[in-house]
Amino acid sequence: MSQSWLRRFCALLLTKVLPLAIESLKKAKDYANTNDHEMKKKSLQIATKLLEQTSDSLSIEIITDSVNIMLQLDYYVGAIQFLLNVATKSEQGKLALQYDSDSFNPLAAADPKKKAYDRRISLYGLIFQILSDIDEKAILSIRHASENGNLTVDKNHPAVFVGPEGQIITQYSQLRDQSYQTCLNFKDKVFHYEFYKWFISNGIGQKLLEIDTPYILDFLKDFSTKDFEIAKLLWLYYSRRENYYEAAKSLLSLSLSSFDIDLANRIQFLSRANGFCNCIPPSNIKQDVVQLSSQIIDLMSVANLQDELLLSILQDIRVGELAKEVAVEQLNGSILTISDLFNDFIDPLGYYELALIAFKVSDHRNSEDILTNWESLLNKWYVQYKAKNSNGSSSEPFYAEFSHKFILIGSRLSDSDVLFPVIELFQLLVKYCYSKEFSTDGVNHL
Ligand SMILES: *[C@@H]1O[C@H](CO)[C@@H](O)[C@H](O)[C@H]1NC(C)=O
Ligand SMILES: *[C@@H]1O[C@H](CO)[C@@H](O)[C@H](O)[C@H]1NC(C)=O
Ligand SMILES: *[C@@H]1O[C@H](CO)[C@@H](O)[C@H](O)[C@H]1NC(C)=O
Repeated sequence: MSQSWLRRFCALLLTKVLPLAIESLKKAKDYANTNDHEMKKKSLQIATKLLEQTSDSLSIEIITDSVNIMLQLDYYVGAIQFLLNVATKSEQGKLALQYDSDSFNPLAAADPKKKAYDRRISLYGLIFQILSDIDEKAILSIRHASENGNLTVDKNHPAVFVGPEGQIITQYSQLRDQSYQTCLNFKDKVFHYEFYKWFISNGIGQKLLEIDTPYILDFLKDFSTKDFEIAKLLWLYYSRRENYYEAAKSLLSLSLSSFDIDLANRIQFLSRANGFCNCIPPSNIKQDVVQLSSQIIDLMSVANLQDELLLSILQDIRVGELAKEVAVEQLNGSILTISDLFNDFIDPLGYYELALIAFKVSDHRNSEDILTNWESLLNKWYVQYKAKNSNGSSSEPFYAEFSHKFILIGSRLSDSDVLFPVIELFQLLVKYCYSKEFSTDGVNHL
């Protein structure tokens, strides 16, 4: 079939068929005026069938006008079905599928695939307008019915009645439910993806969690790497369906993602993920669950250390305001590696407590490094105390401050013989027992 022949054929079809379709729409209006609902419906069905036959030649204007008439006649579901068919089943609809909307092509404006794609998207836009319209009508009708307090059922026109769960059902709320159901039942991936995006752009993305279609999970997965809101929906979707393993995995990816997320939220994602791992029934725990769980726990230790490091920097009087701002920028976001934390911050800033914690997190077992750190740490406490005491501002005796600090860090390390080498530590501590500060205040209390 040559292109020009096809075009002429379509034009001919249009001149023959379109008037018939318009005629049927007019008839439907007349039947509506005489309250003949059966015949109204029949005429509308005929009209949509005819319009669908010529759908490739119909302009968006003609489609919009026809749909508006259908809506005036409360033919919501039919109008939606009509638009879905026109958008998807026509030749243009198929052509649109070959257009990749993600690839940017400056010459695309003239591309027939792009034109077909744009047409498809604007037809979907019409469907979403219909949904908004019927949503509003349904809400108004329910409000109206409940305000009037008059739920008397007129058997001929059951416009209002009470559902099995005591909810008010109106003609429009029924139409709304049917309209959504028509969309949800429609088998076309492109449509579903646009449909879900419409939910999100309307701020009702949460509703996607209730949807069970063959497309929803792929949609959430496909977009979770590009859109933070969708990434958050993905783990919720899994957890609602009690798929805790996948929920934990999604949360782990979120905590590692390049989205603009502060450290506290990343830590929260990890602790949720850890919680989900603990929800997996023992009978379902296989190697991959164990691996995931330990990956989450390891990352959480690093993130917590990073958090503690950031707080230490912010409280450190030696660090200037500008340097603090830089530190916030670097640390209040993505989770860094333990070696970055150590080499860029902990070691150069002389945070010996955090260095010992870093050794623990990274399972660093070099005893020389560990002892040197302990020695530096005890010395730091001593120097700090002396500085405070020299101008008489210290209220606590040295032994009290010293043992308080020692217990605090010791309780975090004492489960490891390597990090908490008792004998060596004792030898280090003895040195301070003979210091002037320690003995003057503390010796009697030991
Ligand atoms: C409720 O509607 C019925 C029938 O439409 C009417 O007869 C009745 O008076 C109404 N009652 C109230 C309280 O409005
Ligand atoms: C980290 O960033 C968040 C969000 O901008 C902010 O609320 C929080 O106070 C920051 N934390 C620190 C320690 O600066
Ligand atoms: C004493 O020194 C400490 C630490 O150097 C300082 O924070 C404090 O303000 C000083 N107190 C007095 C009373 O000078």
